Amino acid sequence: MRHLLSAGDLDLAEACLILDTAAQLASVTDRSVKKLPTLRGRTVVNLFFEDSTRTRISFEIAAKRLSADVINFAAKGSSVSKGESLKDTALTLEAMGADAVVIRHSASGAPHRLATAGWIQGSVVNAGDGTHEHPTQALLDAFTLRHHLRAGTGDLAGLRVAIVGDILHSRVARSNVLLLGTLGAQVTVIAPPTLLPFGVNDWPCAVSYDLDDVLPHVDAVMMLRVQSERMQAAYFPSVNEYSRRFGLDVRRLNLLPPTAIVLHPGPMNRGMEISADVADSTRAVMVEQVANGVSIRMAVLYLLLGGMTDEDRRDQL
Ligand code: CP
Repeated sequence: MRHLLSAGDLDLAEACLILDTAAQLASVTDRSVKKLPTLRGRTVVNLFFEDSTRTRISFEIAAKRLSADVINFAAKGSSVSKGESLKDTALTLEAMGADAVVIRHSASGAPHRLATAGWIQGSVVNAGDGTHEHPTQALLDAFTLRHHLRAGTGDLAGLRVAIVGDILHSRVARSNVLLLGTLGAQVTVIAPPTLLPFGVNDWPCAVSYDLDDVLPHVDAVMMLRVQSERMQAAYFPSVNEYSRRFGLDVRRLNLLPPTAIVLHPGPMNRGMEISADVADSTRAVMVEQVANGVSIRMAVLYLLLGGMTDEDRRDQL
């Protein structure tokens, strides 16, 4: 694996290797000295053209726990604000010797362009591109599902997962449908027709418009943020109407089987796609998702960069 651009690029063995490696690396977090020397001398650049709290900070913590040098680059406050292009930004990072570039961009496909255009030689990790993909989010979600629901074997085959809400704009949904499909889970996406993408019937999942109908039959429900900032039109009549039909409140929480868990990638719109009572309930695992994000991102950086000499890397070019 040279880059991580799409959850769909991972086969079952690669996905399990990342999840198993993350499980081993999670123990570093419990130590008094939370560091491994694995990436000493390597440079990881966090290149964020879009806002982020969880992903940016957890990639930074992950790289630092592996002893990499970390450069945080936010478009705001950089020469991107003066109109510098992605290409010139990438060439600048290459000149400064970046071994890995973690990129978040509003344009779907920007990480792919960075990885394939020859502007940089290092590894590229997609930290969320437009409405396309967010593969490390899907990996940390799978890690969380494993921990809670399949702790014995780690095998997600047959696990029933509902993904609910703004599927149209959600890179998290796309990456989860792809990864959970590879891991053998049974996914159902639930949304109003206006918030389902064209071609969703070709995705490896079932489609439903009725949340109450699906909830009694799933092991986990993943609520998605309504991405108002990406909406140029009215996709539903009102917030109240959306919450009434597609929000997860306590009544709906009680429709779930007793062992089922609630996930949300964050940030949450409390009172819209999820009520505050549910967000704060013991069934909700959002805080664990964030913690697991560090382990997953450590695993991804470790597997992309760890133990490889510059000669090894040149051989792969
Ligand atoms: N889940 C997620 O990507 O959160 P951030 O936007 O805060 O990184």
